[in-house]
Amino acid sequence: MGDREHQFVTEAFETNWIAPIGPHVDAFEREFCQTVGSSHATAVSSGTAALHLALKLVGVDAGDEVFCSSLTFSASANPIVYLGAKPVFIDSDRISWNMDPLVLQAALEQRASIGKLPKAVIIVHLYGQSADLDPIIKLCKQYGVATIEDAAEALGATYKGRSPGTFGDVGIFSFNGNKIITTSGGGMLVSEDASITSKAKFLATQARDPAPHYQHSEIGYNYRMSNVLAGIGRGQLMVLSDRVAARRRNCEIYQQALAHLPGIEFMPEAPWGSATRWLTCLTIDPTAFGIDRETVRLALAEQQIEARPVWKPLHLQPIFGDCERFGGEVAEDLFDRGLCLPSGSNLSDEDLNCVIEAILGSRG
Ligand SMILES: Cc1ncc(COP(=O)(O)O)c(C=O)c1O
Repeated sequence: MGDREHQFVTEAFETNWIAPIGPHVDAFEREFCQTVGSSHATAVSSGTAALHLALKLVGVDAGDEVFCSSLTFSASANPIVYLGAKPVFIDSDRISWNMDPLVLQAALEQRASIGKLPKAVIIVHLYGQSADLDPIIKLCKQYGVATIEDAAEALGATYKGRSPGTFGDVGIFSFNGNKIITTSGGGMLVSEDASITSKAKFLATQARDPAPHYQHSEIGYNYRMSNVLAGIGRGQLMVLSDRVAARRRNCEIYQQALAHLPGIEFMPEAPWGSATRWLTCLTIDPTAFGIDRETVRLALAEQQIEARPVWKPLHLQPIFGDCERFGGEVAEDLFDRGLCLPSGSNLSDEDLNCVIEAILGSRG
């Protein structure tokens, strides 16, 4: 947190706008639109809430299928289940670690052949890197399937010069405490269609009909962002580019020190855009490196350095065990061999060297 965040929060206190409505919420939505190049936005209490609303707004209902990237955090798919719909998981490509357009194509062809197309596809942009949006959106348009972009981890990234999250019917972002910028907790839903973001506002504020008394014709949610937190978000937006630069610098320093080692491969930066390197991730080939990912992770943990395996694919999660999937071998391999290194925007050279030394020393 910096001075700007403090100033905006103080302003919220001094003007007594301590509610899930107010000038900071409106300004944060406007400024966020400018940052990502979107026309309309609705600020909400979390990225998960934004995804839940997005699915509802594109018409997902009980019994529908929704395709979703398999290699991601469970919050990408949980809201599908909130609505009584069924997730179907799609494998990753090796260029970006995100949804493989060829696997998606095979999945859509198969579902079209049995007359059972999904209601929507959730495209996740993992670890600060955009999926290959053009072929994915083209396929979805061809089959008349709605697209939702889960850009929770990818604020500040680009795809062909534009922000991921702004290509599909709806895009969502997260400001959870671990994200590249944070409001402690929060999310944003963006769309080019004003009717989607205004309906999102309506549903997020308990779906109140325009009546002087409290009247409801639809089930609503308490999902709006607080004016205090929106103040933090406005301050954080001003440092987004510094944060991206800091994360990319972490990755460069790790690469300079480790990329030449046999068996170490960094998550590639796909040719279609710029990744934020929200997390620096790499894979370890145990035959070439001498030890496996888990041995490296435990060696780091012994020195109080927290590193995590890459997301466990959702098709392997007990909670989604009975869901269908297309492919999955790439996601499984990335999970088996992948490691996310400490990647905070405030890491010093000394911190980074400490991690590097621990990795170099882990082979004994
Ligand atoms: C890919 C992905 N989707 C969705 C979410 C959910 O966002 P939130 O924590 O703001 O609910 C997160 C992070 O938490 C995430 O990493």
